[in-house]
Amino acid sequence: MTQTAQRKVRPLYTTEEIAVRVEELAGEIAASEPRNLLAIIVLKGGFVFAADLVRALARHGVRLEIEFISLSSYGSRLKTSGEVRIVRDIEVPVSGRDVLIIDDVLDSGLTLKFARDLMATRGARRAAIAALIDKPAGRRAEIEADYVGFTCPDYFVVGYGMDAGHAYRELPFVGVLEPAAE
Ligand code: IMP
Ligand code: MG
Repeated sequence: MTQTAQRKVRPLYTTEEIAVRVEELAGEIAASEPRNLLAIIVLKGGFVFAADLVRALARHGVRLEIEFISLSSYGSRLKTSGEVRIVRDIEVPVSGRDVLIIDDVLDSGLTLKFARDLMATRGARRAAIAALIDKPAGRRAEIEADYVGFTCPDYFVVGYGMDAGHAYRELPFVGVLEPAAE
């Protein structure tokens, strides 16, 4: 196990709190009456949130199709150049469709702005964003999510799909890393 993976995680949003919020978001999205909806899950971080959200949407009577996209900021996360590239693209046209882009964190906003602009350029009728966590303090691009689970300070959060050094994605809650033990 790596050093990172041994650090304790202080819960910030519990499994129960997340479940309640996801259900509420699904209600809001259903109320927008999406047509011919395509859910685009941003890998890797968005996979847990998306898995819960699409099932909550089904409970609210929303039918949809699912695609995956993998995007990466050029360079390391700490000194993002602002360039985003497509590592793995979706496999269907989005022209004329309502698209819901689902991701874990809206931080600088560079990734999700790129994703939304891309879908708009490809002719999506509507490209909405659902982000589990919004960290407005980190914002560098002009963008807001249409659906936000939790707005939080500029913490580095892990769990529920989110990683630090490839660890912690499997945790069933969202937490903050405690300082490394001596
Ligand atoms: P952006 O800065 O808004 O472009 O976010 C890029 C990506 O960085 C997000 O999709 C996350 O995968 C990741 N990220 C940003 N903040 C955090 C965090 O606090 N924990 C884990 N991943 C994060
Ligand atoms: Mg991500």
